[in-house]
Amino acid sequence: MSQLHIINHPMVQHKLTIMRMKETGSKDFRELLKEIALLMGYEITRDLPLEDVEIQTPICPMKAMKVSGRKLAVVPILRAGLGMVDGLLTLVPVAKVGHIGLYRDETTHQPVEYYCKLPEDIDSRLVIVTDPMLATGGSSCDALTMLKKRGCTNIRLMCLVASPEGVKAVQKAHPDVDIYIAALDDHLNENAYIVPGLGDAGDRIFGTK
Ligand code: PRP
Ligand code: URA
Repeated sequence: MSQLHIINHPMVQHKLTIMRMKETGSKDFRELLKEIALLMGYEITRDLPLEDVEIQTPICPMKAMKVSGRKLAVVPILRAGLGMVDGLLTLVPVAKVGHIGLYRDETTHQPVEYYCKLPEDIDSRLVIVTDPMLATGGSSCDALTMLKKRGCTNIRLMCLVASPEGVKAVQKAHPDVDIYIAALDDHLNENAYIVPGLGDAGDRIFGTK
């Protein structure tokens, strides 16, 4: 069973509260999402393996540590997942970035695929999938399936706000994928929006409504 990590760091919770407020505009919403992504990235990369390297400081030689093992790829689910990319790239500037385009059909709430462009060597990378909202879980489940079809074996899912239904769906379909979120909300409403949630993340990031 995949593990659910809830990042309850005070700074993450404080920033998330401002994002949830309906009077928060796109500029602040975007900035806060980027900041939270960086802070959550710190936790999501906490267990990366280290290796010793011999270096010279200005004073003397020393054995120091650097990250070893698989290289990273960040894969946002378009559109809203884009809002978490810059924060992660601030933390891991050498990560490659792939894109998966999915939108939710407004009536069926089922995800519809419209784009997929991934780094050539994606199958050898640790992949962090980003999407602020994990609602029914349909979009995340499909994105994870697309990545697995391309050979990915080491994937983590990073969302901001999740519903219990969404977490359950991902854990059932992808028990090998750990989920990182900042909040587990109460339920989905009749339009499959997260309650209390923060509204439509894509529209709030890009100011489209
Ligand atoms: C939103 C959100 C997720 C999805 C979550 O995207 O960014 O991708 O819905 O819902 P689910 O868990 O029920 O699949 P949306 O389809 O609104 O597209 P957008 O990001 O382009 O606005
Ligand atoms: N997509 C969003 O942007 N918000 C929700 O609450 C559910 C899906």
